[in-house]
Amino acid sequence: MTHIPVLCEEVIRYLKPYSSGKYVDGTVGSGGHAAGILQASEPDGMLLGLDIDSYAVSTADIALKMFGERAIVKKSSYVEMDSCISDLGWHKVDGIVLDLGLSSQQLEKAERGFSFNLEGPLDMRFDSTEELRADDIVNSWPQHEIAKILYELGDETQGNKIARALVSARPINSTVQLAQIVANCKRQSKVGRHVATKTFQALRIAVNKEIDNIVNVLPKALEMLAPGGRLAIIAFHSLEDRLVKRFFSKESQDCVCPVEQITCVCNHHATITRVNRKPISPTYREITDNRRSRSARLRVAEKI
Ligand SMILES: C[S@@+](CC[C@H](N)C(=O)[O-])C[C@H]1O[C@@H](n2cnc3c(N)ncnc32)[C@H](O)[C@@H]1O
Repeated sequence: MTHIPVLCEEVIRYLKPYSSGKYVDGTVGSGGHAAGILQASEPDGMLLGLDIDSYAVSTADIALKMFGERAIVKKSSYVEMDSCISDLGWHKVDGIVLDLGLSSQQLEKAERGFSFNLEGPLDMRFDSTEELRADDIVNSWPQHEIAKILYELGDETQGNKIARALVSARPINSTVQLAQIVANCKRQSKVGRHVATKTFQALRIAVNKEIDNIVNVLPKALEMLAPGGRLAIIAFHSLEDRLVKRFFSKESQDCVCPVEQITCVCNHHATITRVNRKPISPTYREITDNRRSRSARLRVAEKI
């Protein structure tokens, strides 16, 4: 199954790509958003697409071939976008999109270990050259550390119970084995959702250091934007969306002193305006066509 880009029309509408503009897709995946940006910025707009997954890089490379030299695809973390941009001889860019999380292609490849429905190794790395895998966490981290990530990264209220079950079931070697252990110890809380959804989400976020990456990329992305340039971020998880929301809120204020401070001492100046205060969600139609889109939230900011 090909990956259907989420909120694609909205991303294009808010980024407003134009010919002669330069754009970065920091999570190029299968190239869906990237192709939309390249089409909207015809005939001369340029796009740099980054991904840490080599398989995604080859997929995007093929998908964007039709745009010739206007599309450049590179294997790199979005956290390194500043050096990738300057390697091209570009100074600043006119728009950046980040579509966080994992793609349908990653989820559907059993050997990547992202899916509780497909028998596979407990891998879950976006970048297969990184060392940490999900089986390292479940088989060697202390129980309290596992409980902590389940709670913080998976919003899993039964994290202690699940962590205890995982530790006593060691060694755990496959996705289906992990899902079964969770199913045996956890009460089903929401109809229609697999009991292991939150455990898999927490492990994936921990393996790929997704929270640290978001915290690190936000100031860099702002720094790389030209005045009037826009940053569009799609988050699928409340923790990620909250980080983006707080960052945009702080960066859009002239003073960030505590309320009890009568005169400003922070010397902070707003660097962005928020294009939308409330996050943009997919329409009912998009959710019906692509269920994966249902938890997506898009926030957009414009560099002053
Ligand atoms: C939801 S998919 C993006 C799909 C893409 N927008 C499209 O239209 O096909 C997220 C992608 O981000 C990539 N990714 C995750 N963390 C990354 C990072 N730190 N740097 C670059 N890419 C990353 C994943 O490998 C995955 O391919």
